[in-house]
Amino acid sequence: MALLGFAALSLCFLAISSQPHAASPSRTGSFTARHVPDSSSSSSSSSSLGICASFVIIHGYQCHELHVTTKDGYILSLQRIPQGRVVGSSGAQKPPVIIQHGVLVDGTTWLLNSPEQNLPLILADNGFDVWIANTRGTRFSRRHIFRDPSSPAFWNWSWDELVDYDLPAVFDYVFSQTGQKINYVGHSLGTLVALASFSEGGLVDQLQAAALLSPIAYLSHMNTALGVIAAKAFVGEITTLFGLAEFNPLGLPVAAFVKSLCHYPGVDCYDLLTALTGKNCCLNSSTVDLFLRNEPQSTSTKNMVHLAQTVRRGVLEKFNYVRPDYNIMHYGEVTPPIYNLSNIPRDLPLFISYGGQDALSDVIDVGSLLDRLKLHDVDKLSVQFVKNYGHADFIMGINAKDIVYSSVLAFFRRQFQT
Ligand SMILES: *[C@@H]1O[C@H](CO)[C@@H](O)[C@H](O)[C@H]1NC(C)=O
Ligand SMILES: *[C@@H]1O[C@H](CO)[C@@H](O)[C@H](O)[C@H]1NC(C)=O
Ligand SMILES: *[C@@H]1O[C@H](CO)[C@@H](O)[C@H](O)[C@H]1NC(C)=O
Repeated sequence: MALLGFAALSLCFLAISSQPHAASPSRTGSFTARHVPDSSSSSSSSSSLGICASFVIIHGYQCHELHVTTKDGYILSLQRIPQGRVVGSSGAQKPPVIIQHGVLVDGTTWLLNSPEQNLPLILADNGFDVWIANTRGTRFSRRHIFRDPSSPAFWNWSWDELVDYDLPAVFDYVFSQTGQKINYVGHSLGTLVALASFSEGGLVDQLQAAALLSPIAYLSHMNTALGVIAAKAFVGEITTLFGLAEFNPLGLPVAAFVKSLCHYPGVDCYDLLTALTGKNCCLNSSTVDLFLRNEPQSTSTKNMVHLAQTVRRGVLEKFNYVRPDYNIMHYGEVTPPIYNLSNIPRDLPLFISYGGQDALSDVIDVGSLLDRLKLHDVDKLSVQFVKNYGHADFIMGINAKDIVYSSVLAFFRRQFQT
């Protein structure tokens, strides 16, 4: 559900103010007409230019647009920022870091603050070789070796496939290019897929250390009004409504669905950002504007249903087909296999940063996660609690540099010393 708030925020504002909205139905597969609240200005939207050109090179950094093909055929976009703005003379190899965004956004989301405040550019300036991942279905990762985004089969995946295909494809590629162990930073769904993967022994051979911001392994205490209702509404109703399809927050059927949620008692769509993500203490309004011109991004309906299952059931398990015969067909069991986070290797260096005001990554749910990690080597687990931080502050907070990113850097550096 991460950052659904932003999606719904813009949608509900559109609904309330009755502005016509020009979002194209998702089945066109075209994102050229993607609507933004401020359609008069498209100068900051990077729908035609890539992320490098729009958000990195303009600040004086090198940046390369790359592509990775997953084993199931999705062609993912990847940006590499190989060095800082001031190019050092030393030929020392730079440690690679992969940065993975959450659901309903893409890699752009890390780059919306000023360059001194952005995580990718801060990491580049601090000697890292930075790789920004973009999940399947988001605007620059909407290609497949033979499927078209207009076909239902293109959207036949949930976060299980991000665990099985997207993350390994990006890790394998970065590893093949750098030959070095990889550092990882994930936010929101980017933490869930990493933890799920680590629990199955995935990625760990190529991994140096992982920083998890706003972790969402467990979601049962997510206490945002709209989030809870959305989770309940996704009980299958949405599967019949949209079937196996794109979940495009800007598309018409989804917009109508979100609009209907805004009429629930207790859901205040005038203050949806707070209703969904909890109070974000420290966002810059210019950055939020820029966010709304570039996000939200599509995901699959199946992914949303899987997330809703995680909210409802309070366990981390693979996509539940609900029908026992379907589960047996896919898993050989009546119920889906679980991701057992207690199986994460205990010596894997982990940094977890969570917020006291984060209504999506609730303090109690993070507690459940930490409980699963209670046997982790004490010197391999660092936990940071940021009392006034909400969900989006970790990626866009004006002071995230000082509060969170400096700790991420210190954590990564500690691993090189040991
Ligand atoms: C979706 O993928 C599953 C395998 O995960 C497959 O069994 C099913 O036939 C696919 N459905 C469609 C419509 O492509
Ligand atoms: C907010 O963003 C604007 C535009 O990037 C910038 O000029 C301003 O300094 C930012 N304010 C803070 C407090 O970071
Ligand atoms: C998860 O793994 C731990 C340690 O390997 C084990 O003790 C526990 O029983 C497992 N939990 C489940 C639900 O399988």
